[in-house]
Amino acid sequence: MVDCPFCNNSGLILENDLARPCECIQQRKLVKRLTLSHLTPMLQTLTFNRFSFNYYSSQATPNRKYSYLEAAKRAHRAALEFCERYGKDGYAEGMLIQGGVGSGKTFLACSVANRLLEDGHQVLFLIVPDFLDQIRSSYDVNGSGTSESDLMESARDVPLLILDDLGAHQYTDWSRQKIYSLINYRVNHQLPVIVTTNITDLTALYDHLGERTVSRLMQVCQLWHLGVEMDIRLIKRKESERTRRTS
Ligand SMILES: Nc1ncnc2c1ncn2[C@@H]1O[C@H](COP(=O)(O)OP(=O)(O)OP(=O)(O)O)[C@@H](O)[C@H]1O
Ligand SMILES: [Mg+2]
Ligand SMILES: [Zn+2]
Repeated sequence: MVDCPFCNNSGLILENDLARPCECIQQRKLVKRLTLSHLTPMLQTLTFNRFSFNYYSSQATPNRKYSYLEAAKRAHRAALEFCERYGKDGYAEGMLIQGGVGSGKTFLACSVANRLLEDGHQVLFLIVPDFLDQIRSSYDVNGSGTSESDLMESARDVPLLILDDLGAHQYTDWSRQKIYSLINYRVNHQLPVIVTTNITDLTALYDHLGERTVSRLMQVCQLWHLGVEMDIRLIKRKESERTRRTS
């Protein structure tokens, strides 16, 4: 909750018998957007300017077109361009961010979310396994499947949807069908989507999600890759242990 000493939380300031909106209104709106976005406080700290390139090797490898560093720079630039275009046109081609565990996919997707929320746009950030659990539990107990959750409706209609971790889980026919219908709806309504996945092999992606879903994702998203030689979580852990030892 924003506590404002200027308007006593009324949103209005009286000056010479004239009322004008208080500046805290913008802050209140941002807080509301953040709540609706489902970004946790931790994820709200992941922003473009904090995204470091130090974890990506500049070493060229014969079987890759770009070094990890070059690939990370490209993905970061594309994410920034997504925000610019989206801000200008209300639409931008989506992003499918692939990469191994701890390579910065969620970080980059959150950077987009935080930038656009700051700029006044509504974003919904969903972690796919949690989302599927939530909509499954919204179904009635005898499983007739007639009630669709509010969350599914928001996911269909929100101006920008981020699906984090559309990864290697055990998808059932039911969950595959839910993902398909969500993606299909958004494609048909020209609503952009940003997806992160740790499945880096396209064939495996087809196997997990089904051909019709992947085909639609490829239609509306550009593919970006984040690669690391070592999980950034482990590198950061080692870094903080080192600082602890030396302080
Ligand atoms: N470019 C970066 N700069 C600084 N910290 C980073 C960067 N990329 C990732 N991290 C940190 O490393 C950790 C893992 O990052 P992130 O969650 O984005 O990885 P991920 O690719 O989504 O992994 P997973 O596949 O397990 O979901 C986080 O603590 C994050 O803050
Ligand atoms: Mg992630
Ligand atoms: Zn105020």
